[in-house]
Amino acid sequence: MSQRRSAVTDATGDNARKVFIKTYGCQMNVYDSQRMGDALAGDGYVPTQRIEDADLVLLNTCHIREKAAEKIYSELGRIREMKAERATQGRTLTVGVTGCVAQAEGAEIIERAPVVDLVVGPQTYHRLPQALARVHSGERVVETEYAVEDKFDHLPKQAARQIRARGVTAFLTVQEGCDKFCTFCVVPYTRGAEVSRPRAAILEEARALAEAGVREVTLLGQNVNAWADGAGGLGSLLRELAEIPGLARLRYTTSHPRDMDDDLIAAHRDLRALMPYLHLPVQSGSDRILKAMNRRHTGADYLRLLDRIRAARPDIALSGDFIVGFPGESDADFEATLDLVRQVRYATAYSFKYSARPGTPGATMDGHLPEDVKTERLERLQTLLREHQVAFQESFVGREEDVLVEKAGRHPGQMIGRSPFLLPVVVPASAGAIGEIVRVRIESSLPNSLMAEGADHADRLVSAEPLRKIA
Ligand code: SAH
Ligand code: SF4
Ligand code: F3S
Repeated sequence: MSQRRSAVTDATGDNARKVFIKTYGCQMNVYDSQRMGDALAGDGYVPTQRIEDADLVLLNTCHIREKAAEKIYSELGRIREMKAERATQGRTLTVGVTGCVAQAEGAEIIERAPVVDLVVGPQTYHRLPQALARVHSGERVVETEYAVEDKFDHLPKQAARQIRARGVTAFLTVQEGCDKFCTFCVVPYTRGAEVSRPRAAILEEARALAEAGVREVTLLGQNVNAWADGAGGLGSLLRELAEIPGLARLRYTTSHPRDMDDDLIAAHRDLRALMPYLHLPVQSGSDRILKAMNRRHTGADYLRLLDRIRAARPDIALSGDFIVGFPGESDADFEATLDLVRQVRYATAYSFKYSARPGTPGATMDGHLPEDVKTERLERLQTLLREHQVAFQESFVGREEDVLVEKAGRHPGQMIGRSPFLLPVVVPASAGAIGEIVRVRIESSLPNSLMAEGADHADRLVSAEPLRKIA
Protein backbone atom coordinates (compact mmCIF):
# COMPACT_ATOMS: atom_id res chain seq x y z
CA MET A 1 0.00 0.00 0.00
CA SER A 2 2.80 2.41 0.81
CA GLN A 3 4.00 1.99 -2.79
CA ARG A 4 0.62 2.96 -4.13
CA ARG A 5 0.50 5.86 -1.72
CA SER A 6 3.78 7.27 -2.98
CA ALA A 7 2.56 6.85 -6.55
CA VAL A 8 -0.23 9.36 -5.97
CA THR A 9 0.67 12.54 -7.74
CA ASP A 10 -2.66 13.92 -8.84
CA ALA A 11 -5.80 13.34 -6.82
CA THR A 12 -7.93 13.38 -9.96
CA GLY A 13 -5.65 11.29 -12.16
CA ASP A 14 -5.62 7.55 -12.71
CA ASN A 15 -3.08 7.09 -9.96
CA ALA A 16 -5.38 8.48 -7.30
CA ARG A 17 -6.58 6.04 -4.70
CA LYS A 18 -10.22 5.22 -5.09
CA VAL A 19 -12.87 4.68 -2.45
CA PHE A 20 -16.13 2.82 -2.91
CA ILE A 21 -18.70 3.54 -0.21
CA LYS A 22 -21.83 1.40 0.05
CA THR A 23 -24.62 2.87 2.16
CA TYR A 24 -27.29 0.95 4.04
CA GLY A 25 -30.07 2.19 6.34
CA CYS A 26 -31.47 5.67 6.89
CA GLN A 27 -30.85 9.07 5.35
CA MET A 28 -28.39 9.93 8.07
CA ASN A 29 -26.16 7.19 6.76
CA VAL A 30 -26.42 8.76 3.30
CA TYR A 31 -25.30 12.07 4.77
CA ASP A 32 -22.52 10.35 6.75
CA SER A 33 -21.28 8.50 3.67
CA GLN A 34 -20.96 11.81 1.86
CA ARG A 35 -19.05 13.32 4.79
CA MET A 36 -16.76 10.28 4.86
CA GLY A 37 -16.12 10.83 1.17
CA ASP A 38 -15.28 14.47 1.95
CA ALA A 39 -12.91 13.48 4.78
CA LEU A 40 -11.15 11.05 2.45
CA ALA A 41 -10.98 13.57 -0.41
CA GLY A 42 -8.71 15.63 1.84
CA ASP A 43 -6.53 12.53 2.02
CA GLY A 44 -6.27 12.13 -1.75
CA TYR A 45 -9.06 9.62 -2.35
CA VAL A 46 -11.50 10.00 -5.22
CA PRO A 47 -14.89 8.27 -5.16
CA THR A 48 -15.67 5.40 -7.50
CA GLN A 49 -19.00 3.76 -8.27
CA ARG A 50 -17.27 0.50 -9.23
CA ILE A 51 -16.16 -1.72 -6.39
CA GLU A 52 -13.68 -3.48 -8.75
CA ASP A 53 -11.72 -0.21 -9.10
CA ALA A 54 -11.56 0.55 -5.39
CA ASP A 55 -8.47 0.58 -3.19
CA LEU A 56 -10.70 1.14 -0.19
CA VAL A 57 -14.18 -0.27 0.37
CA LEU A 58 -16.35 1.11 3.15
CA LEU A 59 -19.67 -0.44 4.13
CA ASN A 60 -21.71 2.16 6.00
CA THR A 61 -24.08 -0.11 7.84
CA CYS A 62 -27.47 -0.27 9.55
CA HIS A 63 -28.34 -2.34 12.63
CA ILE A 64 -32.05 -1.59 12.88
CA ARG A 65 -33.38 -5.04 11.97
CA GLU A 66 -31.71 -8.44 11.89
CA LYS A 67 -31.86 -8.61 8.10
CA ALA A 68 -30.10 -5.28 7.74
CA ALA A 69 -27.23 -6.39 9.97
CA GLU A 70 -26.88 -9.84 8.38
CA LYS A 71 -26.65 -8.34 4.87
CA ILE A 72 -23.27 -6.93 5.86
CA TYR A 73 -21.76 -10.32 6.50
CA SER A 74 -22.86 -11.72 3.16
CA GLU A 75 -21.41 -8.65 1.45
CA LEU A 76 -18.16 -9.13 3.39
CA GLY A 77 -18.07 -12.72 2.12
CA ARG A 78 -18.06 -11.45 -1.47
CA ILE A 79 -15.43 -8.84 -0.66
CA ARG A 80 -13.21 -11.51 0.90
CA GLU A 81 -13.10 -13.35 -2.43
CA MET A 82 -12.27 -10.14 -4.23
CA LYS A 83 -9.47 -9.36 -1.79
CA ALA A 84 -8.02 -12.88 -2.11
CA GLU A 85 -8.05 -12.63 -5.90
CA ARG A 86 -6.26 -9.30 -5.77
CA ALA A 87 -3.61 -10.72 -3.46
CA THR A 88 -2.69 -13.17 -6.23
CA GLN A 89 -2.04 -10.13 -8.47
CA GLY A 90 0.00 -8.37 -5.80
CA ARG A 91 -2.68 -5.73 -5.24
CA THR A 92 -4.21 -4.72 -1.95
CA LEU A 93 -7.73 -3.81 -0.86
CA THR A 94 -8.53 -2.09 2.41
CA VAL A 95 -11.92 -2.95 3.89
CA GLY A 96 -13.77 -0.89 6.49
CA VAL A 97 -17.10 -1.29 8.27
CA THR A 98 -18.64 1.97 9.48
CA GLY A 99 -22.06 3.02 10.80
CA CYS A 100 -24.40 1.36 13.25
CA VAL A 101 -23.25 -2.28 12.95
CA ALA A 102 -19.71 -1.01 13.57
CA GLN A 103 -20.93 0.75 16.71
CA ALA A 104 -23.00 -2.17 17.97
CA GLU A 105 -20.57 -4.98 17.27
CA GLY A 106 -17.13 -3.32 17.31
CA ALA A 107 -14.25 -5.78 17.44
CA GLU A 108 -16.61 -8.74 17.02
CA ILE A 109 -16.82 -7.81 13.33
CA ILE A 110 -13.10 -8.38 12.83
CA GLU A 111 -13.34 -11.69 14.65
CA ARG A 112 -16.25 -12.87 12.54
CA ALA A 113 -14.97 -11.39 9.28
CA PRO A 114 -11.16 -11.27 9.23
CA VAL A 115 -11.30 -9.54 5.82
CA VAL A 116 -12.12 -6.33 7.71
CA ASP A 117 -9.20 -3.99 8.41
CA LEU A 118 -11.06 -1.19 10.09
CA VAL A 119 -14.22 -0.66 12.15
CA VAL A 120 -15.30 2.94 12.69
CA GLY A 121 -18.47 4.01 14.52
CA PRO A 122 -20.81 6.77 13.35
CA GLN A 123 -19.38 9.27 15.82
CA THR A 124 -15.75 8.83 14.75
CA TYR A 125 -15.69 8.91 10.96
CA HIS A 126 -14.15 12.38 10.88
CA ARG A 127 -11.00 10.59 12.08
CA LEU A 128 -11.00 8.16 9.14
CA PRO A 129 -7.75 9.47 7.59
CA GLN A 130 -5.84 8.85 10.85
CA ALA A 131 -7.45 5.44 11.27
CA LEU A 132 -6.47 4.53 7.70
CA ALA A 133 -2.89 5.62 8.30
CA ARG A 134 -2.78 3.16 11.19
CA VAL A 135 -4.20 0.42 8.98
CA HIS A 136 -1.55 1.11 6.37
CA SER A 137 1.15 0.69 8.97
CA GLY A 138 -0.15 -2.77 9.72
CA GLU A 139 -2.70 -2.25 12.53
CA ARG A 140 -6.30 -3.43 12.57
CA VAL A 141 -8.30 -0.53 13.90
CA VAL A 142 -11.52 -0.43 15.92
CA GLU A 143 -12.72 3.12 16.69
CA THR A 144 -16.15 3.19 18.28
CA GLU A 145 -15.74 5.79 20.98
CA TYR A 146 -18.68 8.20 21.36
CA ALA A 147 -17.86 11.81 20.67
CA VAL A 148 -20.72 13.37 18.73
CA GLU A 149 -19.76 16.87 19.84
CA ASP A 150 -16.21 16.23 18.69
CA LYS A 151 -17.53 15.04 15.33
CA PHE A 152 -19.83 18.06 14.99
CA ASP A 153 -16.77 20.27 15.60
CA HIS A 154 -14.78 18.50 12.90
CA LEU A 155 -17.37 17.58 10.26
CA PRO A 156 -15.55 17.51 6.94
CA LYS A 157 -16.50 20.52 4.82
CA GLN A 158 -18.23 19.99 1.50
CA ALA A 159 -16.55 21.52 -1.52
CA ALA A 160 -18.89 23.44 -3.88
CA ARG A 161 -17.88 21.08 -6.68
CA GLN A 162 -18.96 18.07 -4.65
CA ILE A 163 -22.25 19.70 -3.64
CA ARG A 164 -23.05 20.39 -7.30
CA ALA A 165 -22.25 16.84 -8.25
CA ARG A 166 -24.76 15.62 -5.69
CA GLY A 167 -27.68 17.56 -7.08
CA VAL A 168 -30.19 20.23 -6.11
CA THR A 169 -31.50 18.54 -2.98
CA ALA A 170 -29.35 17.85 0.06
CA PHE A 171 -29.45 16.37 3.53
CA LEU A 172 -28.12 18.30 6.50
CA THR A 173 -27.69 16.64 9.88
CA VAL A 174 -28.76 18.95 12.70
CA GLN A 175 -29.26 16.48 15.53
CA GLU A 176 -28.00 13.05 16.33
CA GLY A 177 -28.79 10.38 18.86
CA CYS A 178 -31.83 9.38 20.86
CA ASP A 179 -32.82 9.40 24.52
CA LYS A 180 -36.25 7.85 23.97
CA PHE A 181 -35.34 4.18 24.39
CA CYS A 182 -38.29 2.62 22.62
CA THR A 183 -38.02 -0.97 23.77
CA PHE A 184 -37.63 -2.40 20.25
CA CYS A 185 -34.92 -0.05 19.02
CA VAL A 186 -31.11 -0.17 18.82
CA VAL A 187 -30.62 3.46 17.84
CA PRO A 188 -30.01 4.84 21.36
CA TYR A 189 -27.20 2.29 21.66
CA THR A 190 -25.65 2.91 18.25
CA ARG A 191 -26.07 6.67 17.94
CA GLY A 192 -25.75 7.67 21.59
CA ALA A 193 -27.61 10.38 23.49
CA GLU A 194 -29.48 13.26 21.82
CA VAL A 195 -27.10 16.03 20.80
CA SER A 196 -28.02 19.18 18.87
CA ARG A 197 -25.52 20.56 16.40
CA PRO A 198 -24.81 24.27 17.00
CA ARG A 199 -27.11 26.67 15.12
CA ALA A 200 -24.26 28.70 13.59
CA ALA A 201 -22.68 25.59 12.05
CA ILE A 202 -26.00 24.49 10.59
CA LEU A 203 -26.68 27.91 9.09
CA GLU A 204 -23.16 28.02 7.66
CA GLU A 205 -23.57 24.62 6.00
CA ALA A 206 -27.01 25.56 4.68
CA ARG A 207 -25.63 28.76 3.14
CA ALA A 208 -22.79 26.83 1.51
CA LEU A 209 -25.33 24.40 0.05
CA ALA A 210 -27.51 27.22 -1.27
CA GLU A 211 -24.54 29.05 -2.79
CA ALA A 212 -23.60 25.88 -4.65
CA GLY A 213 -27.10 25.65 -6.13
CA VAL A 214 -29.01 23.45 -3.68
CA ARG A 215 -32.72 24.38 -3.66
CA GLU A 216 -34.11 21.95 -1.10
CA VAL A 217 -32.61 20.94 2.23
CA THR A 218 -33.86 18.10 4.43
CA LEU A 219 -32.77 18.48 8.02
CA LEU A 220 -31.87 15.14 9.56
CA GLY A 221 -31.88 13.79 13.07
CA GLN A 222 -32.90 10.55 14.77
CA ASN A 223 -35.24 12.84 16.69
CA VAL A 224 -34.86 15.90 14.53
CA ASN A 225 -37.64 17.81 16.29
CA ALA A 226 -35.78 17.42 19.60
CA TRP A 227 -33.22 19.86 18.16
CA ALA A 228 -32.86 22.88 20.46
CA ASP A 229 -30.39 25.45 21.69
CA GLY A 230 -30.63 28.26 24.25
CA ALA A 231 -32.51 30.42 21.73
CA GLY A 232 -35.26 28.00 20.69
CA GLY A 233 -36.29 24.73 19.09
CA LEU A 234 -36.49 23.40 15.53
CA GLY A 235 -39.22 25.92 14.63
CA SER A 236 -36.84 28.79 15.32
CA LEU A 237 -34.08 27.14 13.27
CA LEU A 238 -36.46 26.63 10.34
CA ARG A 239 -37.45 30.29 10.46
CA GLU A 240 -33.79 31.28 10.04
CA LEU A 241 -33.14 28.74 7.32
CA ALA A 242 -36.18 29.99 5.40
CA GLU A 243 -34.42 33.38 5.05
CA ILE A 244 -31.43 31.97 3.16
CA PRO A 245 -31.56 33.16 -0.47
CA GLY A 246 -31.93 30.32 -2.97
CA LEU A 247 -33.27 27.75 -0.50
CA ALA A 248 -36.81 27.30 -1.75
CA ARG A 249 -37.77 24.18 0.15
CA LEU A 250 -37.20 22.86 3.66
CA ARG A 251 -38.06 19.48 5.10
CA TYR A 252 -37.08 17.59 8.24
CA THR A 253 -37.06 13.97 9.34
CA THR A 254 -37.55 11.92 11.58
CA SER A 255 -39.79 13.38 14.24
CA HIS A 256 -41.07 11.93 17.48
CA PRO A 257 -44.66 12.83 18.45
CA ARG A 258 -43.53 13.94 21.91
CA ASP A 259 -41.23 16.61 20.49
CA MET A 260 -43.75 18.39 18.20
CA ASP A 261 -44.01 21.71 20.05
CA ASP A 262 -46.31 24.68 19.36
CA ASP A 263 -43.63 26.73 17.65
CA LEU A 264 -42.76 23.93 15.21
CA ILE A 265 -46.45 23.46 14.41
CA ALA A 266 -46.77 27.22 13.88
CA ALA A 267 -43.80 27.11 11.51
CA HIS A 268 -45.90 24.85 9.26
CA ARG A 269 -48.51 27.61 9.17
CA ASP A 270 -46.06 30.49 8.68
CA LEU A 271 -43.28 29.33 6.39
CA ARG A 272 -43.87 29.04 2.68
CA ALA A 273 -40.54 27.22 2.31
CA LEU A 274 -41.50 24.54 4.82
CA MET A 275 -43.04 21.78 2.73
CA PRO A 276 -46.45 20.35 3.68
CA TYR A 277 -45.15 16.89 4.49
CA LEU A 278 -44.44 15.34 7.87
CA HIS A 279 -43.02 11.95 8.75
CA LEU A 280 -44.37 11.26 12.22
CA PRO A 281 -44.05 7.60 13.21
CA VAL A 282 -46.57 6.14 15.64
CA GLN A 283 -45.54 2.42 15.43
CA SER A 284 -48.86 1.05 16.78
CA GLY A 285 -52.46 2.11 17.41
CA SER A 286 -52.83 0.08 20.60
CA ASP A 287 -52.28 1.88 23.89
CA ARG A 288 -51.16 -1.33 25.54
CA ILE A 289 -48.49 -1.92 22.90
CA LEU A 290 -47.49 1.76 22.80
CA LYS A 291 -46.88 1.48 26.54
CA ALA A 292 -44.86 -1.73 26.16
CA MET A 293 -42.88 0.00 23.42
CA ASN A 294 -42.17 2.90 25.81
CA ARG A 295 -43.47 5.42 23.27
CA ARG A 296 -44.92 7.44 26.16
CA HIS A 297 -48.06 8.59 24.36
CA THR A 298 -51.41 7.02 23.54
CA GLY A 299 -53.17 6.63 20.20
CA ALA A 300 -55.57 9.44 21.20
CA ASP A 301 -52.63 11.75 22.07
CA TYR A 302 -51.25 11.14 18.58
CA LEU A 303 -54.58 11.85 16.87
CA ARG A 304 -55.03 15.06 18.88
CA LEU A 305 -51.56 16.14 17.85
CA LEU A 306 -52.44 15.53 14.19
CA ASP A 307 -55.54 17.70 14.64
CA ARG A 308 -53.36 20.56 15.84
CA ILE A 309 -50.92 20.10 12.97
CA ARG A 310 -53.74 19.95 10.42
CA ALA A 311 -55.28 23.07 11.91
CA ALA A 312 -51.99 24.87 11.17
CA ARG A 313 -51.49 23.33 7.73
CA PRO A 314 -54.70 21.69 6.44
CA ASP A 315 -53.15 20.13 3.32
CA ILE A 316 -50.21 18.52 5.14
CA ALA A 317 -49.31 15.02 3.92
CA LEU A 318 -48.55 12.60 6.72
CA SER A 319 -46.23 9.68 6.69
CA GLY A 320 -45.55 7.11 9.38
CA ASP A 321 -43.70 4.02 10.53
CA PHE A 322 -45.36 0.88 11.90
CA ILE A 323 -44.15 -2.25 13.59
CA VAL A 324 -46.41 -5.32 13.55
CA GLY A 325 -45.96 -8.32 15.81
CA PHE A 326 -44.33 -6.59 18.76
CA PRO A 327 -44.14 -9.11 21.68
CA GLY A 328 -47.60 -9.60 23.19
CA GLU A 329 -49.49 -7.95 20.29
CA SER A 330 -52.97 -9.52 20.20
CA ASP A 331 -55.45 -9.52 17.32
CA ALA A 332 -57.29 -6.67 19.07
CA ASP A 333 -54.04 -4.66 19.40
CA PHE A 334 -53.40 -5.13 15.71
CA GLU A 335 -56.98 -4.10 14.86
CA ALA A 336 -56.37 -0.90 16.85
CA THR A 337 -53.44 -0.16 14.54
CA LEU A 338 -55.65 -0.66 11.47
CA ASP A 339 -58.24 1.64 13.06
CA LEU A 340 -55.73 4.37 13.64
CA VAL A 341 -54.51 4.06 10.04
CA ARG A 342 -58.11 4.38 8.78
CA GLN A 343 -58.53 7.57 10.79
CA VAL A 344 -55.26 9.17 9.70
CA ARG A 345 -55.11 8.12 6.03
CA TYR A 346 -51.35 8.40 5.54
CA ALA A 347 -50.02 9.72 2.24
CA THR A 348 -47.29 7.13 2.56
CA ALA A 349 -45.94 4.86 5.28
CA TYR A 350 -43.24 2.35 6.12
CA SER A 351 -44.16 -0.85 7.94
CA PHE A 352 -42.04 -3.63 9.35
CA LYS A 353 -42.29 -6.96 11.12
CA TYR A 354 -40.90 -6.72 14.61
CA SER A 355 -37.30 -7.92 14.68
CA ALA A 356 -35.83 -8.79 18.09
CA ARG A 357 -32.59 -6.88 18.56
CA PRO A 358 -30.00 -8.12 21.04
CA GLY A 359 -29.55 -5.80 24.01
CA THR A 360 -32.97 -4.10 23.71
CA PRO A 361 -35.68 -4.69 26.36
CA GLY A 362 -38.09 -6.03 23.73
CA ALA A 363 -35.80 -8.96 22.97
CA THR A 364 -36.37 -10.49 26.41
CA MET A 365 -40.09 -9.69 26.74
CA ASP A 366 -42.70 -12.46 26.86
CA GLY A 367 -45.06 -13.15 24.00
CA HIS A 368 -42.85 -13.21 20.90
CA LEU A 369 -45.05 -14.00 17.93
CA PRO A 370 -44.55 -16.61 15.24
CA GLU A 371 -43.27 -15.39 11.90
CA ASP A 372 -46.46 -16.36 10.01
CA VAL A 373 -48.61 -14.17 12.30
CA LYS A 374 -46.28 -11.23 11.70
CA THR A 375 -46.32 -11.88 7.95
CA GLU A 376 -50.09 -12.01 7.79
CA ARG A 377 -50.50 -8.81 9.82
CA LEU A 378 -47.92 -6.99 7.76
CA GLU A 379 -49.74 -7.93 4.55
CA ARG A 380 -53.07 -6.70 5.89
CA LEU A 381 -51.57 -3.45 7.12
CA GLN A 382 -49.70 -2.84 3.89
CA THR A 383 -52.82 -3.48 1.80
CA LEU A 384 -54.65 -0.78 3.73
CA LEU A 385 -51.72 1.66 3.64
CA ARG A 386 -51.34 1.10 -0.11
CA GLU A 387 -55.04 1.85 -0.69
CA HIS A 388 -54.64 5.21 1.02
CA GLN A 389 -51.38 5.93 -0.75
CA VAL A 390 -52.92 5.29 -4.18
CA ALA A 391 -55.95 7.44 -3.31
CA PHE A 392 -53.65 10.22 -2.14
CA GLN A 393 -51.62 10.13 -5.33
CA GLU A 394 -54.69 9.98 -7.55
CA SER A 395 -56.19 13.00 -5.82
CA PHE A 396 -53.65 15.13 -7.70
CA VAL A 397 -54.79 14.17 -11.20
CA GLY A 398 -56.18 17.26 -12.92
CA ARG A 399 -54.59 19.59 -10.38
CA GLU A 400 -51.61 21.93 -10.71
CA GLU A 401 -48.48 21.20 -8.75
CA ASP A 402 -45.14 22.95 -8.26
CA VAL A 403 -42.32 20.59 -9.07
CA LEU A 404 -38.65 21.02 -8.20
CA VAL A 405 -36.87 19.49 -11.19
CA GLU A 406 -34.11 17.18 -9.97
CA LYS A 407 -32.82 14.78 -12.62
CA ALA A 408 -33.27 13.16 -16.01
CA GLY A 409 -36.23 10.84 -16.48
CA ARG A 410 -36.32 7.53 -18.31
CA HIS A 411 -37.01 8.92 -21.78
CA PRO A 412 -35.59 11.88 -23.70
CA GLY A 413 -37.52 15.05 -22.96
CA GLN A 414 -38.54 13.82 -19.52
CA MET A 415 -37.19 15.11 -16.25
CA ILE A 416 -38.15 14.00 -12.75
CA GLY A 417 -38.83 16.20 -9.78
CA ARG A 418 -40.83 16.22 -6.58
CA SER A 419 -44.07 17.88 -5.63
CA PRO A 420 -44.32 19.71 -2.27
CA PHE A 421 -45.85 16.47 -0.95
CA LEU A 422 -42.71 14.55 -1.95
CA LEU A 423 -44.40 12.74 -4.83
CA PRO A 424 -42.15 12.09 -7.83
CA VAL A 425 -43.49 13.86 -10.92
CA VAL A 426 -42.38 13.26 -14.52
CA VAL A 427 -42.32 16.60 -16.35
CA PRO A 428 -41.63 17.54 -19.99
CA ALA A 429 -38.34 19.42 -19.71
CA SER A 430 -34.65 19.34 -20.51
CA ALA A 431 -31.61 19.17 -18.25
CA GLY A 432 -31.51 22.98 -18.26
CA ALA A 433 -34.54 22.94 -15.96
CA ILE A 434 -32.72 21.12 -13.14
CA GLY A 435 -32.99 23.24 -10.01
CA GLU A 436 -36.05 25.13 -11.24
CA ILE A 437 -39.49 24.93 -9.72
CA VAL A 438 -42.07 24.62 -12.46
CA ARG A 439 -45.85 24.59 -12.29
CA VAL A 440 -47.43 21.69 -14.16
CA ARG A 441 -50.83 20.11 -14.50
CA ILE A 442 -50.95 16.46 -13.42
CA GLU A 443 -52.36 14.25 -16.14
CA SER A 444 -52.14 10.77 -14.65
CA SER A 445 -51.01 8.71 -11.70
CA LEU A 446 -48.61 5.81 -12.25
CA PRO A 447 -47.66 3.21 -9.63
CA ASN A 448 -44.73 5.22 -8.26
CA SER A 449 -45.06 8.66 -9.75
CA LEU A 450 -47.30 11.29 -11.26
CA MET A 451 -47.17 12.23 -14.93
CA ALA A 452 -47.44 15.91 -15.88
CA GLU A 453 -49.28 17.06 -18.96
CA GLY A 454 -47.04 16.69 -22.01
CA ALA A 455 -44.51 14.43 -20.30
CA ASP A 456 -45.75 11.24 -21.89
CA HIS A 457 -43.94 10.94 -25.25
CA ALA A 458 -42.36 14.34 -24.67
CA ASP A 459 -39.65 13.34 -27.14
CA ARG A 460 -42.20 13.15 -29.94
CA LEU A 461 -43.70 16.57 -29.33
CA VAL A 462 -42.71 19.09 -31.96
CA SER A 463 -43.01 22.09 -29.70
CA ALA A 464 -43.78 21.58 -26.09
CA GLU A 465 -45.45 24.51 -24.42
CA PRO A 466 -42.82 26.25 -22.29
CA LEU A 467 -43.09 25.29 -18.66
CA ARG A 468 -44.15 27.89 -16.22
CA LYS A 469 -41.16 28.59 -14.02
CA ILE A 470 -42.21 29.56 -10.52
CA ALA A 471 -38.86 29.96 -8.79
N1 SAH B 1 -35.95 7.74 15.06
C1 SAH B 1 -36.98 7.37 14.27
C2 SAH B 1 -36.81 6.09 13.45
C3 SAH B 1 -35.88 5.05 13.86
S1 SAH B 1 -35.75 3.59 12.93
C4 SAH B 1 -38.25 7.33 15.09
O1 SAH B 1 -38.24 7.40 16.27
O2 SAH B 1 -39.29 7.23 14.49
C5 SAH B 1 -36.96 3.62 11.69
C6 SAH B 1 -38.09 2.69 11.92
O3 SAH B 1 -37.67 1.35 11.97
C7 SAH B 1 -38.81 2.90 13.23
O4 SAH B 1 -39.68 3.98 13.20
C8 SAH B 1 -39.52 1.59 13.40
O5 SAH B 1 -40.76 1.58 12.76
C9 SAH B 1 -38.60 0.60 12.69
N2 SAH B 1 -37.89 -0.24 13.66
C10 SAH B 1 -37.02 0.14 14.61
N3 SAH B 1 -36.62 -0.91 15.33
C11 SAH B 1 -37.25 -2.00 14.83
C12 SAH B 1 -37.26 -3.38 15.16
N4 SAH B 1 -36.57 -3.86 16.18
N5 SAH B 1 -38.05 -4.21 14.42
C13 SAH B 1 -38.79 -3.73 13.39
N6 SAH B 1 -38.81 -2.44 13.04
C14 SAH B 1 -38.06 -1.57 13.74
FE1 SF4 C 1 -35.58 4.34 18.11
FE2 SF4 C 1 -37.62 5.25 19.48
FE3 SF4 C 1 -35.37 6.63 19.42
FE4 SF4 C 1 -36.89 6.47 17.24
S1 SF4 C 1 -37.46 7.44 19.18
S2 SF4 C 1 -34.67 6.23 17.35
S3 SF4 C 1 -37.71 4.43 17.37
S4 SF4 C 1 -35.64 4.66 20.33
FE1 F3S D 1 -29.99 2.04 10.75
FE2 F3S D 1 -28.39 3.38 12.31
FE3 F3S D 1 -30.03 4.67 10.71
S1 F3S D 1 -29.42 1.51 12.82
S2 F3S D 1 -31.75 3.30 10.59
S3 F3S D 1 -28.38 3.37 10.09
S4 F3S D 1 -29.45 5.26 12.75
